[in-house]
Amino acid sequence: MRAAAQRLMKVFVTRRIPPEGLATLNKAGDCSVQLWDSDEPIPQSELLKGVAGKDGLFCLLSDRIDKEVLDAAGPSLKVISTLSVGYDHLAIPEIKKRGIRVGYTPDILTDATAELTVALLLATSRRLPESVVEVKNGGWTTWKPLWMCGYGLSGSTVGIIGLGRIGHAVARRLKPFGVTKFLYTGRHPKPEAAAELNAKFVPLAKLAEESDFVIVTCSLTPDTQGMCNRDFFGKMKKTSVFINTSRGAVVNQDDLYEALVNGHIAAAGLDVTTPEPLPTNNPLLSLKNCVILPHIGSATYATRNTMSVLAANNLLAGLKGESMPSELKL
Ligand code: NDP
Ligand code: DGY
Repeated sequence: MRAAAQRLMKVFVTRRIPPEGLATLNKAGDCSVQLWDSDEPIPQSELLKGVAGKDGLFCLLSDRIDKEVLDAAGPSLKVISTLSVGYDHLAIPEIKKRGIRVGYTPDILTDATAELTVALLLATSRRLPESVVEVKNGGWTTWKPLWMCGYGLSGSTVGIIGLGRIGHAVARRLKPFGVTKFLYTGRHPKPEAAAELNAKFVPLAKLAEESDFVIVTCSLTPDTQGMCNRDFFGKMKKTSVFINTSRGAVVNQDDLYEALVNGHIAAAGLDVTTPEPLPTNNPLLSLKNCVILPHIGSATYATRNTMSVLAANNLLAGLKGESMPSELKL
């Protein structure tokens, strides 16, 4: 007797992804995979065509999954799996309304992102990119007592906006540098993490006023959008350093530019901007006291491989109606 033919589940992947993730999808055997096989973002028209009639969507943080995309996918779409822990690019209320499940990649990228946050903080506060340029362009004429001085962590107060997985991991890494005091802000106090760090839960304004280093590691939500604005930078010390590895839209970039140019704060390090990529004529790029990276927080080979396998397994489990390794609670 012939086994009844099983319908293959149709999956659309919006970008070239690490081979481990793709192999996980391909070897599942019960799904047919259509891949936008490019390192560049998929044009909107191709995304709309690609998702049509699919059961599962494997997407990136640069894909805006909104009502238009969900309508184009139609009622067959059961699971969205994003290769990121951040999910501000997903229209969650629409997704929830349609009963679509969402997978994401928390925890496994925490170490890589915390490490990059510390690297960016040190590069910014100790002026590493500026110093490298001076060595190359002949600006290094002799050892000068007052040249290329920056700010050190020893004896400092560090303020963390969003003491979640990444914020906590950053603080743990900074403690051995001799930080005297940790402050943090968020929607709720985090007694366990705070006890380990001896960190104090404070309102945002107090964190701005008292911190020598402000580090943004919160998620982007309607509440955090534009949270770091003129008023916020105006409260910071003139000697303080601002670091953002969360999402660009948490910061009002015009206000940040003003604060940097007018010396209201000492320096800023950003791994995330609005938009991404940041146009090369953006005024922030003209400033020596602003270090900008191209959103590389989780960019280690191992982390990206693990993320791709987790995102693939989330998708497969969701399509089978099983519990996902990392499902976002909607
Ligand atoms: P978590 O959910 O563990 O942490 C997010 C934190 O944001 C929580 O502590 C939450 O606090 C806080 N938060 C929410 N609302 C506010 C608010 N109004 N004010 C202050 N804090 C708030 O997520 P992760 O630590 O895993 O990731 C955080 C973010 O980092 C991601 O959402 C993503 O945007 C970004 N990211 C960037 C990367 C990069 O490459 N640069 C890599 C990975 C992540 P509470 O619990 O009190 O609500
Ligand atoms: C995320 O996961 O949200 C990051 O921005 C990229 O790893």
